[in-house]
Amino acid sequence: MKEFFSITQITFLTLLLTAILTPAKAQTPTQFTPGTVWKDTSGEVINAHGGGLLYSGGTYYWYGERRGQRASEGVNAYSSKDLYNWKAEGLALAPEESPESDITKGCLMERPKVIYNEKTGKYIMWFHLELKGRGYDAARAAVAISDSPTGPFKFLESFRPNGNMSRDMTLFVDKDKSAYHIYSSRDNYDLRIAKLTDDYLSPTAADKLLFSQHREAPAIFRHNHLYYMVTSGCTGWAPNRASVHVASSLWGPWEDKGDPMQGPDAATTFGGQSTFILPVSGKTNKFIFMADKWNPKDLKDSRYLWLPAEVKDGKLSITWYDSWKL
Ligand code: DGJ
Repeated sequence: MKEFFSITQITFLTLLLTAILTPAKAQTPTQFTPGTVWKDTSGEVINAHGGGLLYSGGTYYWYGERRGQRASEGVNAYSSKDLYNWKAEGLALAPEESPESDITKGCLMERPKVIYNEKTGKYIMWFHLELKGRGYDAARAAVAISDSPTGPFKFLESFRPNGNMSRDMTLFVDKDKSAYHIYSSRDNYDLRIAKLTDDYLSPTAADKLLFSQHREAPAIFRHNHLYYMVTSGCTGWAPNRASVHVASSLWGPWEDKGDPMQGPDAATTFGGQSTFILPVSGKTNKFIFMADKWNPKDLKDSRYLWLPAEVKDGKLSITWYDSWKL
């Protein structure tokens, strides 16, 4: 009988077919590699931009903007035990169908942050909301609530805190469990702070201007009785120089301590923009600085820059590493 294929050809074809038919293996990273494509445990690229982390019940949760090429598609949640491997938990907050809703499809949901309220047992999400079809004019903060860290969160309301414009923002829970909303206001010229009500759902009238230096993207942490706040300049999606302000009270005075970034491209925050700083649980003086390396042509392809942050003699440094471990 005539032979159609040689053994070598059959081996080659078998290998080729196996390669084509075997599903892409999910990554199991054991280190951070800032700026590279970061996949979740099912092998999908992580889509959680302008995000923040919450540590709750021994698990880390990562909340961030789910983005299309340009579109804002809600808030995604991921969970992790080790901060390297993230499981997709799906949309924690979805845009709503009703055209009457403030978060109707087509609105912009940016920089979501979630905190846990021990008194009420609820997870509270705040984010920057822009109403559909109005560009960045609405400048509102918005609040959603959930019984579970992965949602689904229920949208409650949106507003300008105490009448002030509110764009880039973060939340901070202090040692005494008081929570604060820190937000760029007056067309981003002002950075303000508002203490939240005990249920973390609304701003109180305790609302103060921190400084007027045209800064956005606030990310804050506390270490040894001092508060450190990293911000960016205001250049749209383009990276710029970061600065850190330090204060012994959240209400200020906040002293500008210059740029904490160190390494190549430090002058442009390594091509990124701050979004959150995580105190690593169980470790003193170990913080993870999180930034977004935005890709305005394809926002979902924006990359994550997670870098180690350290304080020495009251001075914060955030140093570039191609790869690093906790
Ligand atoms: C900079 C902000 O920090 C981002 O969150 C986003 O709002 C862009 N501007 C839009 O240009």
